[in-house]
Amino acid sequence: MKAIYLVGFMGSGKSTFGKQLADGLGISFFDLDQVIENRTGKSIPQLFQEWGEIRFREYEAEVLRSFAKEEDDFVLACGGGTPCFHDSLAWMKSHGYTLFIDTPFADIEERLKGSEAIRPVLMALRQTKNEDSMYQLYIQRREIYLQAASILGPERLNVNEVIHMLNS
Ligand code: S3P
Repeated sequence: MKAIYLVGFMGSGKSTFGKQLADGLGISFFDLDQVIENRTGKSIPQLFQEWGEIRFREYEAEVLRSFAKEEDDFVLACGGGTPCFHDSLAWMKSHGYTLFIDTPFADIEERLKGSEAIRPVLMALRQTKNEDSMYQLYIQRREIYLQAASILGPERLNVNEVIHMLNS
């Protein structure tokens, strides 16, 4: 069984790389946010609004675990917060292979421009009026992401190389 978990900050490119990796491996790609939206019939911003973040994080951790039981071979792009709550990074490490997409902050900032409406955490950061709040969260979460089994900086973000690494 191949269970590959991609972690990284919002806008780091988990879905884009995840689809390419899954194609290269000939297995299915999933996005955890999408799995959550399919199961609840609600969008992520709606869930944050109706449930609040604490309940969202509990549900996210539950879906992560139940999803892995139901699927066999997959690449799963996690939400930016998934590994940071409920010991989920440790759980993923013991149930599959974790890859951190380590995209530089400047690129992330650029990619996230204008995406507040679909990213409630980003919206909340903007509302703090503290210009550094996103960078602070990035630094704080990066410490957690760095515990993944492999770290892929931009220079190592190559599907063939990663497949070779996974097979060796
Ligand atoms: C979140 C990231 C989002 C989504 C939710 C919370 C976060 O996923 O799970 O809005 O806490 O960083 P992406 O990383 O796919 O944007």
